[in-house]
Amino acid sequence: PRIVAIVPAAGVGSRMQSSTPKQYIELQGKTVLEHTLNKLMKVGEISAIKVAISAADDYFSTLAINKQVISTVAGGRERADSVLAALGAIEQQSPDWVLVHDAARPLVCAHDIENLIAQCCAAKQGGILAAKVRDTIKRGCNSEDDGEFIDMTIPREHLYQALTPQFFPYELLRQALRDALAAGANITDEASAMEWAGHPVRLITGRSDNFKITTPEDLQLANFLLAQQVT
Ligand code: CTP
Ligand code: MG
Repeated sequence: PRIVAIVPAAGVGSRMQSSTPKQYIELQGKTVLEHTLNKLMKVGEISAIKVAISAADDYFSTLAINKQVISTVAGGRERADSVLAALGAIEQQSPDWVLVHDAARPLVCAHDIENLIAQCCAAKQGGILAAKVRDTIKRGCNSEDDGEFIDMTIPREHLYQALTPQFFPYELLRQALRDALAAGANITDEASAMEWAGHPVRLITGRSDNFKITTPEDLQLANFLLAQQVT
């Protein structure tokens, strides 16, 4: 099957509070986005990569990357808009499947990506990498004037953190994302659009260190783990 990867990289990284957007922060001598693209380039099944970048992006053109395989498209307001723009831009490549992976997750390992692709292709169903929740999870509720209190404990037996990549049949995802956005649904990942459209989504266990670089305290750990990963 023909598999094209999409990398949403058009965010501003507000929670990182850095003047450089987080996908362009350097760790171990390369930007976060370059680390991420290098991981995807290791996966032989992926034939092309479309990166959604901001119209105001000053950084991407300076990266040393393989432009035969990697191209860009203008992203949108929200992550889902960026992904939808990229899905439109790869139409001529007639992908069977699309693999969406956050620019801000450079720690993903090629083995997990290959496992996700293999399991979904074998089942002919889409799926996502996910990690079982390990902490006890509380739902909070506000008292009028005295901060937040525990409302209840959520049984964690069936709880997962949604990671990326997320891997779906191209046409099915494009239609689901279009329809869900048009209906005003709250879509924070590809799986939410597929769930909204009523399609089954497989949960494929992935490494929990594939976290999304989000806040300043994530940088030290990401830097350490990237140094351990022999490239
Ligand atoms: N993203 C995107 N287009 C947007 C918003 C986000 O392509 N309009 C991308 C980000 O660049 C990131 C991924 O989606 O690689 C995951 O989003 P997130 O971690 O929320 O990144 P930001 O939106 O940049 O960060 P923040 O929410 O802290 O502002
Ligand atoms: Mg965001």
